Amino acid sequence: MKDAPDDWTHAKFTKRWQLERRKRLQRRLLDGLRQIIAPRQRSIAFYGVNINISGVIRGDPMPAQELVMSQKINLNVNGAGHDVEVEPDSMLLYALRNNLGLRGPKFGCGLAQCGACTVLMDGNAIRSCVTPVSAVGNAKVVTLEGLGTPEQPHPLQRAFIAEQAAQCGYCINGMIMAAKAFLDQNPHPSRDEIKQALNDNLCRCGTHMRIVRAVQRAAGSTQQ
Ligand code: FES
Ligand code: FES
Repeated sequence: MKDAPDDWTHAKFTKRWQLERRKRLQRRLLDGLRQIIAPRQRSIAFYGVNINISGVIRGDPMPAQELVMSQKINLNVNGAGHDVEVEPDSMLLYALRNNLGLRGPKFGCGLAQCGACTVLMDGNAIRSCVTPVSAVGNAKVVTLEGLGTPEQPHPLQRAFIAEQAAQCGYCINGMIMAAKAFLDQNPHPSRDEIKQALNDNLCRCGTHMRIVRAVQRAAGSTQQ
């Protein structure tokens, strides 16, 4: 099924929303300052330091934000190096989805809360929606696409299919990637350990029982 380029739009929207929110807060701060400062006052004392506020009184615009230019950054993803043209503070999730076309990781909350965007970085499950590209460095990133192929799925992918462990499927990338990092550390977990490991990955559809069964199947574990 073709994946709509929703994240690109969402990223732009989020950035624009943040800028507009910042401008609104600045305007409110300026309005507040103008009300407490006498019209001809040129400075205010703040902890013994005189701060020049004539610009504020005149209503000068706040200093323009520093422009961050796109840079070419090399990312090691799924075993190969890729040059991506991105702003260094943009999040890894956008580079993966928009620059590299890897649609396994999903945008859910954008706040490190749901786990839909999980990828592996040097074997650890991380939330790519809050990981700036500049923080990746030489680390090896693995996405859902790097685990297996349609012809040869990873045991976890095979187990999720066998257990039909998905309804809408939006959370499944995060569930599989978190489970992969977990099973690499603990290959024979108990059911409770699996539940604990996936505790921070949210599924809105309520597929939890099947997801846990799929991870148990992948681990070859039927322990309670
Ligand atoms: S989208 Fe990254 S944790 Fe929700
Ligand atoms: S299957 Fe829909 S959110 Fe988990």
